[in-house]
Amino acid sequence: MYQEIDLDKIDMNAEPPAEEPARQYYFMAKCRQWVREFERKNGRRPCFFTQTFGCQMNARDSEKLVGILGRIGFLETQDEHADFVLYNTCTVRENANQRVYGHLGYLNTLKKKDPNMLIALCGCMMQEPQVVEKIKKSYGFVDIIFGTHNIFKLAELMWERLVIRKMAVDIWEDTCLIVEDLPAKRKYPFKSGVNIMFGCNNFCSYCIVPYVRGRERSRKPEDIIQEIRHLVASGVVEVMLLGQNVNSYGKNLEEPVTFASLLRQAEAVEGLKRIRFMTSHPKDLSDELIEVMKDSKKICGHLHLPVQSGSSRVLKNMNRRYTKEQYLQLVDKIRAAMPDISLTTDIIVGFPGETEEDFQETLDVVRTVGFDSAFTFLYSKRSNTPAASMEDQVEASVAKDRFDRLLAEVQAISAKVCARDLHKSKEVLVESVDDHMEGYVTGRLSNNILVHFPGDISLVGRIVSVYLEEAKGFYYMGRMENPQ
Ligand code: SAH
Ligand code: SF4
Ligand code: F3S
Repeated sequence: MYQEIDLDKIDMNAEPPAEEPARQYYFMAKCRQWVREFERKNGRRPCFFTQTFGCQMNARDSEKLVGILGRIGFLETQDEHADFVLYNTCTVRENANQRVYGHLGYLNTLKKKDPNMLIALCGCMMQEPQVVEKIKKSYGFVDIIFGTHNIFKLAELMWERLVIRKMAVDIWEDTCLIVEDLPAKRKYPFKSGVNIMFGCNNFCSYCIVPYVRGRERSRKPEDIIQEIRHLVASGVVEVMLLGQNVNSYGKNLEEPVTFASLLRQAEAVEGLKRIRFMTSHPKDLSDELIEVMKDSKKICGHLHLPVQSGSSRVLKNMNRRYTKEQYLQLVDKIRAAMPDISLTTDIIVGFPGETEEDFQETLDVVRTVGFDSAFTFLYSKRSNTPAASMEDQVEASVAKDRFDRLLAEVQAISAKVCARDLHKSKEVLVESVDDHMEGYVTGRLSNNILVHFPGDISLVGRIVSVYLEEAKGFYYMGRMENPQ
């Protein structure tokens, strides 16, 4: 049964419990006492600011961190002028790291003015020993450092820092632990990410994720469904099931389950309207999954299927374990079952040894598939990954030139493909009041494309029928049908 523990019922004079999550609730109660003391002295509650770098996994982790801070009694604020600043970091490409170092410089100036400020760093970048060394040496003003495997320990580490008053560092190399039933504060009331698995076993040769997120671990289906039910009861209509490779979900469970069968169970949750998932590795995408998607009323008509490169030679060196032809055959099979599906992808340009011919193969795949959109990345060398020591690293100017050509192609195709629903009526989940146009709201089609149309805040979180009047490249302008 999904259950949070009441902090008022915890005996704070007792020894901390050994088991989780009871141990963390004990430290939340301890920290809450500190917060009350702070409030008595300062006439206000302490406030915190978090910034999340990186992917949806990190975004979901941050919701858990914010949930813990909320239970402790901190108030959330919108910038770094806060009593507690927490950066949840990403290290998938070098520019992600550079951004964090840049922010740290700024925090240093703020902390000089307010020495009581607490600064914490967590997430993927902290799983790299050389990063932690650098922070200890050059950024000694940081108070708490933890990694990806122990985010659930925030309250305990905070307590440690408050009592011992020296930098608290706790990084785990890997874990088989999955701690359930901790609080989380959702960014949106009507949609939520749901972790179904952690870590990755694929070791694509360019990628640092398996090193910083550890080995693949799946949550039990009953825990996932329980969480989804709980979310739906609190107003969620759309879930995004999260994993680095959802297609290998459940393989390592005591009682193995397929991802397709997990989807069937999620589909049966009453009140849930939409199901999304991310990310699918092409090598593990099963026929069973295609069947389930095809028959489903709730699974969205969108599949993110990273191709990374169109050259079979490069794909081999990337350790992706499929060829260009296999990828294209898979796309054909998916389209045969679901002709309207929207396909999106990730592409890396400038992988070591990539020639102009290899790059042309990538352009060919982009044209053949006609992706709705593609995230394009310049290859970034990650320390200790196999690709970092490969010969023939591509010169930056050559990679940049290919990147620009690829982007132009992707954008031209995307503008055409994304217009496929023009002059049709489609269901839209309204996400927010429009930032730029007064009197408008913004929502998403099942295939993830944005729609703007006249409406007000009362529509947020609702699924409404919208006539798509104008295609604007990667979004539509529309008009709501049968407004009440
Ligand atoms: N697990 C997901 C993606 C995780 S990282 C998958 O397998 O698709 C998200 C994207 O970042 C990857 O798909 C890849 O395109 C890109 N990426 C990962 N490592 C990179 C690197 N070293 N340089 C450039 N892009 C990279
Ligand atoms: Fe990285 Fe490959 Fe794992 Fe995705 S599947 S996280 S790209 S190693
Ligand atoms: Fe970045 Fe970690 Fe995600 S490295 S992309 S935040 S898994």
